[in-house]
Amino acid sequence: MVKVRPFLFCVLLLAVASLALGTKDPELKQCKHQCKALQQIGEHQRKECYEMCERYHSEKQSKEEDTSTFLPYRGREETGEEEEQQYGEQERENPYVFEDQHFITGIKTQHGRIRVLPKFTERSKLLKGIENYRVAILEANPQTFIVPNHWDADAVLFVAQGRGTLNLVRRGKRNSFNIRAGDVIRVHAGTTAYLINRDNNEKLVIAKLLNPVSTPGQFEHFFGPGGRENPESFYNAFSSEILESALNVRRDRLQRLFGQQREGVIIRASEEQIRAMSQHEEGGIWPFGGESKGSVNLYRQRPLQSNQYGQLYEVDGSHYRQLEDLDISVSLANITQGGMFGPAYSSRATKIAVVVDGEGYFEMACPHLASESGSRGRQSRGSERETRIGSGYQKVRARLRRGMVVIIPAGHPVVNVASNNQNLQVVCFNINARNNEIVPLAGRNNVMSQLEREAMELGFGIPAREVEEIFRSQQEEFFFQGPGGRQQHQEGGRADA
Ligand SMILES: *[C@@H]1O[C@H](CO)[C@@H](O)[C@H](O)[C@H]1NC(C)=O
Repeated sequence: MVKVRPFLFCVLLLAVASLALGTKDPELKQCKHQCKALQQIGEHQRKECYEMCERYHSEKQSKEEDTSTFLPYRGREETGEEEEQQYGEQERENPYVFEDQHFITGIKTQHGRIRVLPKFTERSKLLKGIENYRVAILEANPQTFIVPNHWDADAVLFVAQGRGTLNLVRRGKRNSFNIRAGDVIRVHAGTTAYLINRDNNEKLVIAKLLNPVSTPGQFEHFFGPGGRENPESFYNAFSSEILESALNVRRDRLQRLFGQQREGVIIRASEEQIRAMSQHEEGGIWPFGGESKGSVNLYRQRPLQSNQYGQLYEVDGSHYRQLEDLDISVSLANITQGGMFGPAYSSRATKIAVVVDGEGYFEMACPHLASESGSRGRQSRGSERETRIGSGYQKVRARLRRGMVVIIPAGHPVVNVASNNQNLQVVCFNINARNNEIVPLAGRNNVMSQLEREAMELGFGIPAREVEEIFRSQQEEFFFQGPGGRQQHQEGGRADA
């Protein structure tokens, strides 16, 4: 036995070292696995080995909690006998947060790119409610042109940055209008659209929500103008005798028409071309539906909420008729540096949030992730059902920075916190917007302070007076000072921003 000790120690060191390098639970599994693989040791030594892995692992986890690594964060795992069985599913990280690496680059040229998020259900079954929506982000360099095309999807566009001119051809008419940061534009499925970035210096960035109308969850770009490739014109899919007859021209002229363009979808335009295509009004009058405008600017709405810690803007079908039939609204929270929005939840709407500017973090309570990891690990099969209600919430937490997308399902309490040196601007596409209500969980008019005194007492198990006092201490509404700014005048406040 004595001879085994140095060897065991060595292996343990190896196992623990691999734990130290990694950041996630797979290392715990690996550590334990190495204990198991040791042939020469007795049962109690093996147990010792397991325990050492666990001790190290939990120490490391609490250390991570304190320093707040902003990794997509799944709270603390219960370690136990069944830990090992869970291992295969540990990859199932936080399915609500999308960063750069989760995007597919749909189209890319030296003058810009279109990044698309994969279908949400490819990430997690929890996102099934929004599986027929897709998100794309277009970035075009100054003085560029995006070749006319149409999509088999209804779309809502939000101009996150820059100035452009958008042209939409639908029902035999072309509507051209200038767009700029803050504009929301609805584009009907099948509309032929083209776009220029008319600015000399600034990028044009547009976030798009797409609702496919043909294959659920799938959409395609269709290019009329184009060549044999990059982009290929869909005309090229037809036999030449068909095209000759349909267009009533000779074949050599068709070959010339479809034989030239191969520069890509986002291309450079000359100054004169840009100038000629930019002579339009802001907003524009919609030729398709009476008085309604082609676009609406979020920033120019009266804020729904506003104080020194931030403003909330929203447009829905009542401000902008084009959104009426989609059951979508678009909102924007401008959270002042050091401030936060929420906690609050949306009663019906699931939010697809795009970080437009700034930095910060968010936290969300999620019962689904908790029940996935918790019920399997802790409860015997028989008691699973009964313990499920109120049995726990996972704290979903991630750092926010420009270009990230976060999904906030209906009913899930959430808070967004701006960093201390920059405003955080988050635009949300709200799906199921009709009759949606943002329910505040803190501050003036928070839902808890509406409860009857007896309900407070029974629900919290302390005198109603105390409950009332606590939930009425915050005088602001929706936007508050964040934890970073509270450090000085707080009793026990932990500042982990
Ligand atoms: C966002 O808030 C800042 C002040 O914190 C303000 O200067 C800026 O104009 C706001 N932007 C919008 C779009 O409201």
